[in-house]
Amino acid sequence: MNKIITIDGPSASGKGTLAILLADRLNWRILDSGALYRAFAYFSISEDDQRLIEQNLRKISFNIVDGSIQVLFENEDISMHLRTEETAIQASKISSLSSTREILLPIQRFFSETSNLIADGRDMGSVVFPDANLKFFLDAAPEVRAKRRHLELQKRGQEVNMHDLINDIVERDKKDRTRELSPLIKTEDSILLDSTNLDQESILSEALQHIKERNIL
Ligand code: DC
Repeated sequence: MNKIITIDGPSASGKGTLAILLADRLNWRILDSGALYRAFAYFSISEDDQRLIEQNLRKISFNIVDGSIQVLFENEDISMHLRTEETAIQASKISSLSSTREILLPIQRFFSETSNLIADGRDMGSVVFPDANLKFFLDAAPEVRAKRRHLELQKRGQEVNMHDLINDIVERDKKDRTRELSPLIKTEDSILLDSTNLDQESILSEALQHIKERNIL
């Protein structure tokens, strides 16, 4: 039986980075479920047939290169297409549909069939992998998350107002936590990691400590 560690949390909480660091350190496979929702959105822009979209999604794989995650479709790197604002908006829309979530459920679960897995998203521990060996819920104060997003956008040459970013994050949290299907929740059996005052390395060592204490490896 392969082992699974889930990392859920709101946007810009640092869960993607923790997932990459853990997958790298443990040499486990990684599932970036948000990227699957984005890929679903990306394929939907040029394709209506849900069966074809599903077939395409089954060909997605993830690669960690120089500390970043690459999304591959038939060995082509499609990461850039998934990061656009258009894809993000469409992903947010389709992720609230039960039809999308039903299609993605078995595809996400398949990732754990051939390898130990680090799965990151919003409902990994609550819905997709409820029997995971270890569940983390990563959180941070909205102001800190907004600051991280600000830095990220600046690196990409985009200038955004901090006040707008904080409002955006608070609004998105509310939407994520109150939506009907798979809302963002911290399950009772998950461990809260608060990255408000901790850098990536400290969060990683805290996570590794829990993994050691629970004898997961
Ligand atoms: O984490 P992200 O920004 O890449 O996620 C893209 C979209 O998919 C976002 O609107 C939230 C949604 N999502 C979801 O509903 N469930 C998940 N497990 C992961 C992402």
